[in-house]
Amino acid sequence: MNPDFLKIIHARHSCRAFLAEEVPRAMLEQILLAAAQAPSSTNMQPWEVSIFLGSAKSRLDQALTAAFEEGRGSNPDLHAYLEEWVEPYKSRRFGCGVSLYNAVGIDRQDKAARREQSKKNFNAFGAPVAMVFYQDDFLKPGSILDMGFFLQNLMLAAQALGLGTCPEASLVAWPEILHQSFGIPEGKRFLTGLALGFPDLQAPVNQYRTAREPLGSFARFVTD
Ligand SMILES: Cc1cc2nc3c(=O)[nH]c(=O)nc-3n(C[C@H](O)[C@H](O)[C@H](O)COP(=O)(O)O)c2cc1C
Repeated sequence: MNPDFLKIIHARHSCRAFLAEEVPRAMLEQILLAAAQAPSSTNMQPWEVSIFLGSAKSRLDQALTAAFEEGRGSNPDLHAYLEEWVEPYKSRRFGCGVSLYNAVGIDRQDKAARREQSKKNFNAFGAPVAMVFYQDDFLKPGSILDMGFFLQNLMLAAQALGLGTCPEASLVAWPEILHQSFGIPEGKRFLTGLALGFPDLQAPVNQYRTAREPLGSFARFVTD
């Protein structure tokens, strides 16, 4: 029984402002090895990750921000947005946006300010480290689940070491950038990206927490 581990689970949240301090390479290796302890179907380990640091991270920031500014259509292999938002997902998504804009003092009607906030996605919110996660595109949906376990292990290991993370589909919005400028081979399915660094604990954007539905709304105990 280790109640501290439960505290780590509850403390993890999406961090969207970071200190400039670099993350030591040994720490990165430690969390990546913890991620790879994830279970996977028949131990396939269907996960690959590119880690962007230093000048490569700056080049990635520039390329993604330029694509955002030119309004380039994004075509992620995998995203979760519905064509038509229906309940209960519609309200939950809306609540997520309201909390973010309230935290940073942006009026929902202020399109320019919202756009500036969105733009921050594309430099990984100033984090010193960005990661992108991918796997062979011929793999079955079960392998996406395996990658989810890998990602959650990674985020919890980072949390345990005092780091902040934000999973970011935005970082894989333009697969061609990742193929052409950063050497990721064709034939890969991009799942998401991730911002990582030491959290800026004072930043307003890091002050709010998203809500969760009560247990009874998602769990059903079957007893006879
Ligand atoms: C696959 C995935 C992609 C995400 N992409 C983004 C993103 O591009 N930008 C962002 O600000 N948050 C992104 N998020 C963070 C979610 O908004 C966040 O996890 C959710 O609101 C719950 O909040 P919490 O992580 O603080 O618990 C993503 C989360 C997941 C799981």
